[in-house]
Amino acid sequence: MRALVAARAKDPVAPPQAEGPWPLSEPFRVGSVEIPNRVVLAPLAGIGNRPFREQARRHGAGLVVSEMVAAHGIRHGNQRTRSMLELGAGESPVAIQVFGGDPAVMAEAARVVQDAGADIVDINMGCPVPKIMKTGAGAALLADPSKGEAVVRAMVEAVDIPVSVKMRRGIRPGDMDPAETARRFEAAGASLITIHPRAAADEYSGTADHSISASVVAAVDVPVLLSGDIADAAGARDAMAMTGAAGVMIGRAALGNPWALGAIARGEAEPRPGAHQVLDEHIAFCEDIAALMGPDRACHYLRKFHSWYLAGRGIDDADIQALMEDPTFDEAVARLLSLRERARIAGT
Ligand SMILES: Cc1cc2nc3c(=O)[nH]c(=O)nc-3n(C[C@H](O)[C@H](O)[C@H](O)COP(=O)(O)O)c2cc1C
Repeated sequence: MRALVAARAKDPVAPPQAEGPWPLSEPFRVGSVEIPNRVVLAPLAGIGNRPFREQARRHGAGLVVSEMVAAHGIRHGNQRTRSMLELGAGESPVAIQVFGGDPAVMAEAARVVQDAGADIVDINMGCPVPKIMKTGAGAALLADPSKGEAVVRAMVEAVDIPVSVKMRRGIRPGDMDPAETARRFEAAGASLITIHPRAAADEYSGTADHSISASVVAAVDVPVLLSGDIADAAGARDAMAMTGAAGVMIGRAALGNPWALGAIARGEAEPRPGAHQVLDEHIAFCEDIAALMGPDRACHYLRKFHSWYLAGRGIDDADIQALMEDPTFDEAVARLLSLRERARIAGT
């Protein structure tokens, strides 16, 4: 598969036009950091921990972003929050995303993130959850872009690593010009902008309108990533062609399907791993998660992953349902091992 990608002459990271290598497989730079390809794992709260990110890198994501981490939690040395900053040897380049509304607290968090070994520190300006927005964090930073700007500036002054911004199009559709806002964040020192072109009030409804992303790409010189409803290489090609962006960020399409990341990075069609291969991957993931958080929390965390991995892979719904109801980690793994044995015998 080859893309015809609209490039902007002024954009030094724009992928090549017309024929040539699949543009998403090419490296690009975020400040001083080289990213080996243009497919990025999205930040996913409650999901994007170290094993999840390492798996994404192994499968071909060029950059992975952590789930959002509370700047206040970092400041207070909250144990659970600090453990979210532990990085693995296999995940670089990695961005840690922080959320908060106070420039000084965010600057302090950025220093801790840098000391933790992150390559990039990302600012959450998209979270639509009222509890978060009420504190002035997440998408609330877009309500008054001068607040977002102050946060970017404080963080850029505090660290040597690049600072990036992940933003929505606004709080409500049409309430701000995301291109103008992105330009202000760039002027404040942001080295990368990710645009999820839904309004915060829309949460995840409707579809992401990447013509809005195109206006952001046109407005800034730093690389722009597209986030929203990109699930395969064909969708990535279309979104890149529409916008001339530097790359794509993949969230929900990677859940239980890390193969999608490599396929998009290589420009290949949706991969169809057999049930046996999927179970191998899922069992290894379960073990990594249990090593990280212990079997009880792992059991809870993994419940949704059972169906994300196994639905539509030729495995009986009743078996998937039983996995989601399993009370202990050991029982879930025993059931997965028996499903794998069945798949091996069936040759699926
Ligand atoms: C479960 C879930 C958790 C998310 N957590 C975060 C987060 O911590 N930080 C963030 O910036 N965006 C977060 N998002 C938004 C995603 O990063 C992404 O922008 C959005 O899902 C659209 O991309 P997609 O269609 O590829 O999933 C989250 C989305 C989902 C579904």
